[in-house]
Amino acid sequence: MLSGKKILVGVTGGVAAYKAAEIISRLRKLNAEVHVAMTKSATEFIAPLTLRTLSANPVYVDMFDEPKLWNVEHIALAEHVDLVIVAPATANMLAKMAIGLADDFLSTVLLATRAPIFVAPAMNHAMYLHPATQDNLARLVDRGIQIIGPSTGFQACGTEGIGRMSEAVEIVESLTRFLSGGGSLKGKKALVTAGGTQEPLDPVRYLGNRSSGRMGYAIAQALQEAGAETVLVSAPTDFKTPPGVTRISVQTALEMYDAVLERFSEIDVVVKAAAVADYRPAVQAEQKIKKNGTNRMIELVPNPDILAELGRRKTSQVLIGFAAETENLLANAQDKMHRKNVNLLVANDVTKPGAGFGSPTNIVSFLFPDGRRIDFPQMSKLEVARNLVREIASLLDVETKE
Ligand code: CTP
Repeated sequence: MLSGKKILVGVTGGVAAYKAAEIISRLRKLNAEVHVAMTKSATEFIAPLTLRTLSANPVYVDMFDEPKLWNVEHIALAEHVDLVIVAPATANMLAKMAIGLADDFLSTVLLATRAPIFVAPAMNHAMYLHPATQDNLARLVDRGIQIIGPSTGFQACGTEGIGRMSEAVEIVESLTRFLSGGGSLKGKKALVTAGGTQEPLDPVRYLGNRSSGRMGYAIAQALQEAGAETVLVSAPTDFKTPPGVTRISVQTALEMYDAVLERFSEIDVVVKAAAVADYRPAVQAEQKIKKNGTNRMIELVPNPDILAELGRRKTSQVLIGFAAETENLLANAQDKMHRKNVNLLVANDVTKPGAGFGSPTNIVSFLFPDGRRIDFPQMSKLEVARNLVREIASLLDVETKE
């Protein structure tokens, strides 16, 4: 399947380095040409000889070793390969990549290559959730680097949490999907809404909510990675538009309504991750409202329910809704799923630690109208998004066969 594809596996110094052996072996079984670069610390966890034997190629560790295959080896290798996967990727290597530091063979190749780069983070959960690591990951995503995992579970330090490297089989599957150009959603058109709408009271104030937009942006990225032509209708957020995605910026629920409805008939799948204000101020003051020391009432009028309207109008489209709840999660979510006529509802309890607004991770359940339910453990929002894309692919399949 990977005949003629040249892959560089970068291995950094984490206990998951042993899984690199399986990645290399699986890639070779698929007929890929595999090269390996290790950091010095990685050689403490797994012997270069193991990886040399499995890859059937020399292993690069030191910048100043005698050349093995080429004269200026880090540049030649950077130009030779079709794809680079760093697995495991430690917090340290992610930080180096984020600032473009090149102080050993692997980090130098990562700076020199123009090939697509994938990273599979592996680290203790506190290190993964640290804002510095999250900022670094966000910078890598902005640059088009694809992140695989991590997953949740038992960690080598003896605790449970998020930060385990994804399994070799999943990593190889992601690379194969990418290299065979076989995005499962090729030829499909997707529309995602993200962020919290803002409903102006006067020229300087608005009614808003706590949605950061992170989940919606991750979904747009995952849909685009899977080959869908993706439009992101976004309320104001701090996130950069994922590479390849078309963004349409809106502020209010009414603007979002117009932007979504206008495009709906040409779209195959809509994911409504935005937190849409249910009400807006009845009047928007033309000038800044001045205080006068007394109580003030703001009259609110209802906004249209965009998702419910899509549910009424839908023909062959797949509709995905979200339910962010603070109580009675499953009952409220079930009710929303039927009321809004969606094909899948993503439910999350935003009061749980590790879930909800602004958090880099989420804990969700997928609910289907036929009563099926899938509960997921805590995982990065990007992994939630990729799981959602897998379900969307099979829902679209069902829809087109009918
Ligand atoms: N939604 C929408 N338009 C609205 C309100 C919500 O499209 N005016 C969508 C959201 O994008 C989300 C789903 O409906 O996909 C559920 O949103 P939520 O705010 O959880 O539900 P509500 O319908 O507002 O219900 P409630 O206020 O009773 O929780």
